[in-house]
Amino acid sequence: MTSELFGHVQEFPDPDSGVRFEALVGLDDVKVRLINEATVILQPELLDKWATVRHMGTVHALQAVRDRVPLIVLAGDVGTGKTELAETVGHPIAHQLGVDVTLYPLSLNARGAGLVGQMTTLITSALNEIRNMAAKSRTSDGQLNRAVILLVDEADSVAQSRELAQMHHEDRAGVNALIQGIDSFRKEQLPVLTIMCTNRPDAIDPAVARRAAHVFRLGRPTAEQTREVLNAAFAGIAVSHNDLDEVAMLLHSDNSKQYGPTYSDLRQRFVPDAVLDAFGRDAPIVGSRLIELAASFTPTRPFGSGS
Ligand SMILES: Nc1ncnc2c1ncn2[C@@H]1O[C@H](COP(=O)(O)OP(=O)(O)OP(=O)(O)O)[C@@H](O)[C@H]1O
Ligand SMILES: [Mg+2]
Repeated sequence: MTSELFGHVQEFPDPDSGVRFEALVGLDDVKVRLINEATVILQPELLDKWATVRHMGTVHALQAVRDRVPLIVLAGDVGTGKTELAETVGHPIAHQLGVDVTLYPLSLNARGAGLVGQMTTLITSALNEIRNMAAKSRTSDGQLNRAVILLVDEADSVAQSRELAQMHHEDRAGVNALIQGIDSFRKEQLPVLTIMCTNRPDAIDPAVARRAAHVFRLGRPTAEQTREVLNAAFAGIAVSHNDLDEVAMLLHSDNSKQYGPTYSDLRQRFVPDAVLDAFGRDAPIVGSRLIELAASFTPTRPFGSGS
């Protein structure tokens, strides 16, 4: 599909996305909860089935689950896997529900480039397009055959707090349009899950944050999780366990800073730099060189921590 409202529209199941999802380290709890949340949001009748089997149908608490807005927020520091998780979770969800899933990433252009009124119009059009797609998601006998994920990445610029004094009233209208649209998907029982990603959970409009079915907080890797990323990256290369332990330790040992590397520091900087370093010298990757590189590596500073 080509639409200026959305970025790259992705269809699931998609095994490549499954591989990327599996490769995310340290997020096992988040992954399981996210898939469970998505399952009950996209196919609420599964909860009814469960209640019938386990409680003979009488679970008043189910209403509290149903009343939640079908919105999940992924919040966390830079490079902690928010976008990667949101872009790939469609695969396990498709697998779990046994239906096709389509991901629509709200395009950066939908932010309206600051033109008055444009953001609201674009958000409204985008939500209408999603609604039209989702309305076709059941067969004539009510069986779900497709579910939709709407991704609002770097959501703080769209769903930013209406409390911010400098926010133009048209922007506030855009936020309202977004909240109402997401809420109406629930009321109309459309199988649409909205995922918002943000570095700054505080900047997300309280009305949005309060209603979210769940806010997941993602963090930087521990030294052990760094070790896991290194294991995967250098599998098959003759670097000893002891050397990799030391590399992980060094990457986390800069006491002048109170923080270690992000996952993206590891996978998009440290590992490729190590490969290119060896390539540039036309030499193999060896433990002693990885240790040198780790000793001089500077992790990205945490979001919002100043310079
Ligand atoms: N938990 C993780 N395990 C393994 N690799 C990860 C993990 N999180 C992120 N990465 C790697 O870092 C890259 C960047 O991650 P991603 O774009 O999802 O970060 P983000 O949280 O969206 O950051 P930003 O706030 O800057 O948008 C990914 O492509 C992936 O290679
Ligand atoms: Mg991101």
